[in-house]
Amino acid sequence: MKALLLNGSPRKGNTCAALDALKKGMANIQGLELKEVVAEQVSVSPCIACESCGSNSHCVFEDDTNDIVDAVVAADILVFATPVYWWGMTAQLKTIIDKFYSRSKDLHDLKKQVGVIVIGEAQQDDPQYEIIPKQFACICGYLGWEIAFSKTYTAAAADDLAKSDEAMKEIEMLWKNFK
Ligand SMILES: Cc1cc2nc3c(=O)[nH]c(=O)nc-3n(C[C@H](O)[C@H](O)[C@H](O)COP(=O)(O)O)c2cc1C
Repeated sequence: MKALLLNGSPRKGNTCAALDALKKGMANIQGLELKEVVAEQVSVSPCIACESCGSNSHCVFEDDTNDIVDAVVAADILVFATPVYWWGMTAQLKTIIDKFYSRSKDLHDLKKQVGVIVIGEAQQDDPQYEIIPKQFACICGYLGWEIAFSKTYTAAAADDLAKSDEAMKEIEMLWKNFK
């Protein structure tokens, strides 16, 4: 089984802490091949709607797009983890997701289990914690992927989430949602 974690944060902060805890738990999945893509550390040009991919399912940019989208196609488990930036996911993560368009024919109705982790500074009654998970639900619904978990956390300073034993323990156990 293959897992791909897409980390949308540009800093070593709360999203990294969440994914570290998740990876610790996912180590319990027998034979799992786990890969993480940190959106900030890869080169992915924004989609320019050239539609070249429509004929060959291949993005024209000679950057990391095609390798990442190949890894998305191959993954049995996909985790989207993002800080909240202006009531949305980060541009870095969204830029990668936009590139799913280049293989959209191949991405539909694959047996894929998805985890979503959203971390913002605002308290949990903020609409962003409905808007962003809903966006992921729409993307997954469109592609026919199953959402195994969708969690939101409040954390502001880079080390806030790591200081919450409750959050860390909960995230470490999320792997159990993958069948
Ligand atoms: C450009 C920018 C925009 C942000 N916008 C929001 C926002 O709309 N809502 C919110 O709750 N937090 C917002 N934040 C705070 C981050 O979501 C918060 O600090 C989060 O814990 C960062 O995660 P990280 O440590 O993984 O990078 C913003 C931070 C930045 C840098």
